[in-house]
Amino acid sequence: MSEENKKIIYSAMQPSGIPSLGNYLGALKNWKNLQNEYNCIYAIANMHAITVRQDPTELRKKTRDLLTLFMAIGIDPEKNILYVQSDVKAHAELAWVLNCFTYMGELSRMTQFKDKSAKHADNINAGLFTYPVLMAADILLYNADLVPVGEDQRQHLEITRDIAERFNNIYGDVFTVPDGYIPKVGARIMGLQEPERKMSKSESDNDNNVIYMLDDLGRAANKIKRAVTDSDNEVRLSPDKPGISNLLNIYAAVTGKSAEEAEGEFVGCGYGEFKKCVADAVIEELRPIQERFKELSSDKAYIDKVIKDGAEKAAYIANKTLRKVQRKVGFPV
Ligand code: TYM
Repeated sequence: MSEENKKIIYSAMQPSGIPSLGNYLGALKNWKNLQNEYNCIYAIANMHAITVRQDPTELRKKTRDLLTLFMAIGIDPEKNILYVQSDVKAHAELAWVLNCFTYMGELSRMTQFKDKSAKHADNINAGLFTYPVLMAADILLYNADLVPVGEDQRQHLEITRDIAERFNNIYGDVFTVPDGYIPKVGARIMGLQEPERKMSKSESDNDNNVIYMLDDLGRAANKIKRAVTDSDNEVRLSPDKPGISNLLNIYAAVTGKSAEEAEGEFVGCGYGEFKKCVADAVIEELRPIQERFKELSSDKAYIDKVIKDGAEKAAYIANKTLRKVQRKVGFPV
């Protein structure tokens, strides 16, 4: 298919920590797999990240590291656009316009806002509240058809669609109304110690709960071996076996199988042996990524160039959409 006829994929990730295995299986692994079939645009959402306090030096480092990790996974900056959100001014400008087309009531219903305000009760800032509007601006600036994300972003995609449709109803077909692309397996990886809660790169107090993509591999294996299970020693998918079901999901997402196929492989297998298989699969997946990350990280000039080129390519597309919106709402353009 020619480049022009390919559909557009857009997604982003916050540089709020080293990505977890959840981020990888719910999003990044699919981002890589989609790059041949679609025109893909992937961003580092550093403007979203400052809705909670960040150390500035750390944030700059994490931003570069995340972009490097995108490439280490195999996302090709020549075929796709990889860029840093704050490098493209159109995001902030469109977000302002869209704020005026979004209702307080809609934003108050967002579960992420409720969760994050409970977690950061001393800093419930307006940015945290309007977070989904900036996310809608991200997606709509690039006329995205599909947005590959994990399950926790579903509500944000719905509000993006609502905002786009509302704007289009007033001004005509300005925005492409995007669809979510949520994988069947891996869209909701749970904590290893708390399998009732999602695995999170930024919100966990217990290091054993999360596998980070750059964890020492021996340590990652140990985290899996220590994962919470239950006492009946049967490897089976079941709502009352959240720990085992989560490990089966991890294994399935890593190996590209369905959860049921994974379950079938481990009939009659004890927990110890099962955990070892899961750990081996995860480690073999992470090993080449970590090696590539190390290599790429040492090439500072190359990373600088990818960041600069990405910003230019992204800004070109984003500015076109922004101008169209500004014209529609009556700004002198
Ligand atoms: P963020 O940075 O929290 O997460 C990045 C991606 O990882 C997915 N994810 C998970 N998937 C499976 N299991 C988990 N435990 C898990 N934890 C996280 C998320 O669903 C997401 O796809 N608001 C977004 C960033 C963003 C964005 C956008 C995404 C900003 N602008 C525009 C799409 C389009 C976020 O905080 O993701």
